[in-house]
Amino acid sequence: MGRNPIYWDDPESFKPERFEQKSVEYTGYQFEYIPFGMGKRMCPAITFGLVNVELPLAHLLYHFDWGLPDGMKVDDLDMDESIGITVGRKNDLYLVATAYYPSWNE
Ligand code: HEM
Repeated sequence: MGRNPIYWDDPESFKPERFEQKSVEYTGYQFEYIPFGMGKRMCPAITFGLVNVELPLAHLLYHFDWGLPDGMKVDDLDMDESIGITVGRKNDLYLVATAYYPSWNE
């Protein structure tokens, strides 16, 4: 359902920006998007799971500026997926992280 072209434009492509235009709930009421399942067997740890994604991600974005290695463009990114119970990257992602030191005097 999460890749049904009736609901999703170009469903096989990784396009996080699609969510900028489409407001969709993930709590099991909109069946085209159920990352935590739905009904009585849905994930009981939605909040815990989300916090454990959002908090590390927020720290990484706050404490570093991120860029691609020299000469590389966004379109050059290898987005091949591995096959498994969950989908992950097939090959490692290489990024250049530059430490960001917030000024406490601002
Ligand atoms: C972002 C993180 C997570 C995602 C995307 C996720 C997703 C899911 C999905 C899709 C299901 C299956 C629902 C179904 O069978 O219809 C599930 C079930 C479950 N999840 Fe999660 N989960 C996450 C994190 C966690 C964490 C951190 C825990 C425990 C600390 C957890 C505990 C469980 C349990 C116990 C079930 C089985 C519920 C049941 O069968 O009654 N999940 N989860």
